[in-house]
Amino acid sequence: MKGKVLITGGAGYVGCVLVPLLLEAGREVAVYDIMYYGKGNLPSHPKLKVVKADIRDTARLAAEVKGCDAVIHLACISNDPSFELDAGLGKSINYDCFEPMVKACRDAGVRRFIYASSSSVYGVSESPEVTEEHPLKPLTDYSRYKALCEDILRRYQSPSFGTVIIRPATVCGYSPRMRLDLSVNILTNLAVNNRRVTVFGGSQKRPNLHIADMAELYALLLELPDDKLAGDTFNAGYQNHTIAQLAEMARRVVEAEMPEKAPIEIVASPTDDLRSYHVSSGKIAARLGFRPKRSVEDAIRDLCRAFKAGKLPDSLTDPRYFNVKTMKALTSARSA
Ligand SMILES: NC(=O)c1ccc[n+]([C@@H]2O[C@H](COP(=O)([O-])OP(=O)(O)OC[C@H]3O[C@@H](n4cnc5c(N)ncnc54)[C@H](O)[C@@H]3O)[C@@H](O)[C@H]2O)c1
Repeated sequence: MKGKVLITGGAGYVGCVLVPLLLEAGREVAVYDIMYYGKGNLPSHPKLKVVKADIRDTARLAAEVKGCDAVIHLACISNDPSFELDAGLGKSINYDCFEPMVKACRDAGVRRFIYASSSSVYGVSESPEVTEEHPLKPLTDYSRYKALCEDILRRYQSPSFGTVIIRPATVCGYSPRMRLDLSVNILTNLAVNNRRVTVFGGSQKRPNLHIADMAELYALLLELPDDKLAGDTFNAGYQNHTIAQLAEMARRVVEAEMPEKAPIEIVASPTDDLRSYHVSSGKIAARLGFRPKRSVEDAIRDLCRAFKAGKLPDSLTDPRYFNVKTMKALTSARSA
């Protein structure tokens, strides 16, 4: 599939790494984003059109998606605390507009719709390998609506409108639109700038995926033939580590990258939240040939370089790095 692709939420954390990758591959791209976190992080490029608009505006979306072969749907209130801040807003974006949007894309002649769900749809499981067949037990509204949208999308699969659902692990690493509210990124930020990392619990497992691998996966999903995807669902993760192991990695890599700074202390603190997730990414490797190439350490190293290059100023305090803080500021501005 070589044609134009529209990316909803393309100005976000994942989008800002994915968009340049697709442009470099020669693809024409339209980003359709409400710009909650600004639009200054996307490159200017003759093959990139940036549209500041809301996915709840189905008529606008229908107009913008005309002429596109594929849609990658990333737009979202994309974590639990931001969703819970205004559950009505969260539902309207993450669920209510989903089916009208899918229908509009299909009717506009889009041939492939790629949906970013989340591995959080499984909830907590003691299973050592959570495969795609594992029952879904979402624990929060954010995860519940992700799962409900999956069901909607599966109903639209057809030979002329191919769909695929990806359940990514937590993404890590540097993006020009940075999120420092994701586990590896949080630990690295604390290790670099606080020299002290507090770990709550520590035995909980968290699956991770390097942001460059995440972007390469979406690029691959545009290339694969229809019959490889055809309404299917895939986990996408790489390494499953405990929080304690992630903190230790952050300490080791940051100390090696920034030897001039003081040693980093890891402090363990008790917690009631010992939820573990252990996601299997065997199916996507076997069926689609997708094998992540970068480790969590690579992501931490990339972040250290971004810090050293001054690309992440005021990283402990600036609200733009933390979705919930930005959304809180927007909500209070609206009600003022
Ligand atoms: N980052 C992760 O670790 C991770 C893990 C699993 C799944 N995902 C999913 O991947 C997708 C991308 O995640 P991200 O980390 O880049 O999130 P992000 O919050 O950085 O980006 C989401 C983008 O969606 C835009 N948006 C929000 N509401 C919109 C609306 N009404 N209309 C148009 N645009 C809107 C925002 O402005 C933002 O640019 C999300 O759907 C998320 O749920 C992310």
